[in-house]
Amino acid sequence: MARVKSDMSLPRERLRLRHRLLPRTLFGRSLLIITVPVILLQVIVAFIFFDRHWESTSNRLVFALAAEISYIANQLQEAESSAERDKIAATASHSLGVTVVLSSSAQDISHQRADDPFARYSWFSVGPKLEEELDRRLDSPFVVRPYERDKWFVVDVQYAPGEVMSVLSHERRLVSSTTYIFILWLIGSAFILFSIAILFMRNQIRPILRLAVAAEKLGRGQDVPDFRPVGAMEIRKAAAAFIRMKERLRRQIEQRTLMLAGVSHDLRTPLTRMKLQAALALPGSDAEALKQDIAEMEQMVNGYLAFAKGEGDEPTSMADIAEIIQRVSANAARLGHTIHFDINGNPVDRRLLAKVRPVAIERAISNVVGNATTFGKNIWINAQYLDDDIEIIIDDDGPGILPADREVVFRPFYRLEKSRNKKTGGVGLGLSITQDIVHNHGGEIVLADSPRGGLRVILRLPV
Ligand SMILES: Nc1ncnc2c1ncn2[C@@H]1O[C@H](COP(=O)(O)OP(=O)(O)OP(=O)(O)O)[C@@H](O)[C@H]1O
Ligand SMILES: [Mg+2]
Repeated sequence: MARVKSDMSLPRERLRLRHRLLPRTLFGRSLLIITVPVILLQVIVAFIFFDRHWESTSNRLVFALAAEISYIANQLQEAESSAERDKIAATASHSLGVTVVLSSSAQDISHQRADDPFARYSWFSVGPKLEEELDRRLDSPFVVRPYERDKWFVVDVQYAPGEVMSVLSHERRLVSSTTYIFILWLIGSAFILFSIAILFMRNQIRPILRLAVAAEKLGRGQDVPDFRPVGAMEIRKAAAAFIRMKERLRRQIEQRTLMLAGVSHDLRTPLTRMKLQAALALPGSDAEALKQDIAEMEQMVNGYLAFAKGEGDEPTSMADIAEIIQRVSANAARLGHTIHFDINGNPVDRRLLAKVRPVAIERAISNVVGNATTFGKNIWINAQYLDDDIEIIIDDDGPGILPADREVVFRPFYRLEKSRNKKTGGVGLGLSITQDIVHNHGGEIVLADSPRGGLRVILRLPV
């Protein structure tokens, strides 16, 4: 069993690792798509260059220098007088581009061990190559050692017992100097390529970002001004589809709203007539019941109208949620309820600013506070910033709603059985309107148990 489990989790693990290694943004990924092949190509080019060009050039240089040194050593060995040897050294220095210095030494140079003067080319083993080549050509002991001047080196050859010639030479004689230019050229061209790629990519990514922002705004129910689709064809297509979708959505909502508003409005006229007639009818229990029914219907119609209005195209604007809460509570307080506040706004002006449709948000909050006043006596309102949201918590000390019922109460026209009495009479639209409004703002509404005994309603609105 455990085996099966680990086998199944393996691809997911691998996937997660890949996700962590890959850049998250499209920009990063596109750049990677360009960068990786270019770097790969450059590495291959560099490798071929070093392998073919640089190595063979250096080999030839090493070969030439070793040949010269062995030639001079041979000449010196064959010379009969020290004057002749001095002459050979002078001629060599003059015509071979090296400095030859002759000296006498009591010590055998083969016992000396010198540092590799080409340590910084160790990856290419210039030193060992030169030694190998000299070894092949010279019978005499020799040593290659660094010189006190940077980039110069010395080859000491003991061409005769006690006689040493020191050949001073520049690194240039062994190491091809175009290498650095080539590497610089590689890096430079890569840099130019990346700069151009970054510039182009930025311009390609911008319309996608703009589309994402527009979609996010639309989801929150905020106004999205029409924009001109730009960028690559696919992005332009997506943007055009988004604009069409936005238009269709707007039309659909408008139609629904208009219909609901129309029906409600039309119902009001006969209702007013009925109210009048009921008032004129003879007093009696029947008439009372009729009046009750009419009042209830009027309340419903008003509810529908409010519902329709909430969906209207109210523009979004910066509003202070703290102020809205205070206004709503003032109305509730007028009806004789006690409201306890705890609003933690901005530390400077104590406001809770958010881009919302203020009238709709006021309706949403007032629906919840209205329920709290209907079902409880005391109300506690707590509001604050929480991450990127504004959180509003409304508690009451009423009967609360059982966890099982916390989903159904959001359905339009749904009311809990036990509250079907005149005192708490409502249409059953309040919470569904509130949910609609909150969702349209990209927020959420949660019902919970209140520590005060009743219901706790949590509203979260993105700032
Ligand atoms: N604070 C609360 N405490 C207890 N029950 C509640 C509370 N708020 C809502 N409910 C229950 O949820 C039901 C639905 O509430 P909702 O606000 O949608 O409708 P309503 O208040 O009955 O009518 P309306 O708000 O449209 O006038 C209510 O009928 C009630 O049973
Ligand atoms: Mg209600």
